[in-house]
Amino acid sequence: IKKIAVLTSGGDSPGMNAAIRSVARTCAYYNIECIGIYRGYQGMIEGDFLPLNARSVKGIINKGGTVLKSARSQEFRTPEGRKKAHENLLKEGIEAFVVIGGDGSFTGALIFNEEFNFPVMGIPGTIDNDIYGTSHTLGYDTALNTVVEVIDKIRDTASSHNRLFFVEVMGRDVGHIALNVGVGAGAEEILIPEEDLGLERLLQSLKRSKLSGKSSSIVVVAEGDKIGKNVFELKEYVEENMTEYEVRVSVLGHMQRGGSPSCFDRVLASRMGVKAVETILEGKSSYMVGLLSDKIEITPLNEAIKGKSKINKELMRVADIMSV
Ligand code: F6P
Repeated sequence: IKKIAVLTSGGDSPGMNAAIRSVARTCAYYNIECIGIYRGYQGMIEGDFLPLNARSVKGIINKGGTVLKSARSQEFRTPEGRKKAHENLLKEGIEAFVVIGGDGSFTGALIFNEEFNFPVMGIPGTIDNDIYGTSHTLGYDTALNTVVEVIDKIRDTASSHNRLFFVEVMGRDVGHIALNVGVGAGAEEILIPEEDLGLERLLQSLKRSKLSGKSSSIVVVAEGDKIGKNVFELKEYVEENMTEYEVRVSVLGHMQRGGSPSCFDRVLASRMGVKAVETILEGKSSYMVGLLSDKIEITPLNEAIKGKSKINKELMRVADIMSV
């Protein structure tokens, strides 16, 4: 293999730049050409390519977002779109690509591989940590730190006013971010899709914590939670059913995806980039690199997509005990 491409796809996450840098530098190390593809699969369809050498990726390891830009391409979902993309890769002499993204991006890569027998490799990049085959996706650690810092600030104002805050965090269909920041920031309750607490229990728990002498309360709500009410409806529900608290809502939104990556994410990205390129050079295709028991391992892409990233039950118990 003489030429490998790298692209970022789907929602961006901190650490993607560090991974691009790692892929480009590993290629340089092995004397292989590296091509950056702009705007994910859309750029592949449009032939939006840029050669990357070891120096062109300087100064990006500490930057949030992705210098290659990202997109969720509808056109790549069509056979015509993928055909155009394949023609562009062949024209450019690209023999394999590394896609940094989440399960949607991996599904696209797998279909592409099946249609054209084209070598593909995945690096998990998403703040949600919802990918099987890795304990950490790129950007997850940074997002946790970003959110904990923000909740600490919300706590300052919540306790000054004796208020209850519902803080909605991202995570798509899973509660990893909510559970970890909930424990890390000392939330009174954590609502995650993996466990339906129920409205009545939530109310009882909030009443109990008020009686036990708490002046403020933080309830972290995962965006995918299934309690049946969104954060604004939860506010109304609690205000109607308990007068003890004044309630406010804070939806953290996309700020959770930004910012300079943590040292953990930078190191992880560097390790994953090396492994992704080396796995291609071993002649393998359709794997995802991941962190398992502090080792960089590979998992078949189809397993990474189909498998479930499990919520940490032990941490759920810790959260329960801490909110006594
Ligand atoms: O997958 C990352 C993520 O930030 C999710 O947490 C969130 O549900 C979604 O992307 C938001 O997508 P968009 O940026 O397209 O609004």
